[in-house]
Amino acid sequence: MVEFSLPRNSKVTEGKTWPKPEKAEHVTEFRVYRWNPDDEKNPHVDTYYVDRHDCGPMVLDALIWIKSKVDATLTFRRSCREGICGSCAMNIDGTNTLACTRGMDEIDGTVKIYPLPHMPVVKDLVPDLTNFYAQHASVQPYLQNITATPEKEWRQSEGQRNKLDGLYECILCACCSTSCPSYWWNSDRYLGPAALLQAHRWLQDSRDEATGERLDFLEDPFRLYRCHTIMNCAKACPKGLNPAKAIAEIKAKMVERQV
Ligand code: SF4
Ligand code: SF4
Ligand code: FES
Repeated sequence: MVEFSLPRNSKVTEGKTWPKPEKAEHVTEFRVYRWNPDDEKNPHVDTYYVDRHDCGPMVLDALIWIKSKVDATLTFRRSCREGICGSCAMNIDGTNTLACTRGMDEIDGTVKIYPLPHMPVVKDLVPDLTNFYAQHASVQPYLQNITATPEKEWRQSEGQRNKLDGLYECILCACCSTSCPSYWWNSDRYLGPAALLQAHRWLQDSRDEATGERLDFLEDPFRLYRCHTIMNCAKACPKGLNPAKAIAEIKAKMVERQV
């Protein structure tokens, strides 16, 4: 019989169960993925009990409570606590989302938390976003034009400005790209929904004059055309954006310029 050898860290084991808070009346169980690159152990899932009367209502509040009161080694990213910075993105109860905007009341029973899927892990709930950010940079997400800079400002009509709605609000949390099966298998060559949404944001900007170059860069069997309209991205986006629609509009632009 053929025997596969799996990477050392592919097996997730049962971890430690931390003590329940004493005298707490309203306790929620958390099961949290842990992995420390500095020890030789496999990833494991630890169990924690959070005293809901001593903690804010969001999943991020619970993680901060665990870190400050139970286990200071638990590692995760967060900054704004308001759904603006994108740094607390993780997989909560099977869905990629922001820990600071997901209420514990929205989850039935045990809260299960893993890092964003199919990304290398730096430690615990912290994914390595190096490739994700490099892909964002590759679409040159800034205004490019050859017309001389106006004395006061680049002007836009209200209608031109409205075309950026649904695009500029992206907080680069990576929830969409890490929920996209095409990105899971080809993240080295497929740009993924987040970077493509941003590519579209600059294609839509009436002030930008690099449309041809931008489309030339995207005209590639992997960078753009690995999107198979599976729509996980739109479902996952915590800001309610629709990267799949943006990708379809880029594809339409590709066709338009052929005719
Ligand atoms: S629609 Fe495209 S980008 Fe969005 S999840 Fe599907 S394949 Fe990925
Ligand atoms: S499109 Fe939505 S899910 Fe994707 S990176 Fe931007 S905010 Fe996050
Ligand atoms: S902490 Fe900034 S989005 Fe959650």
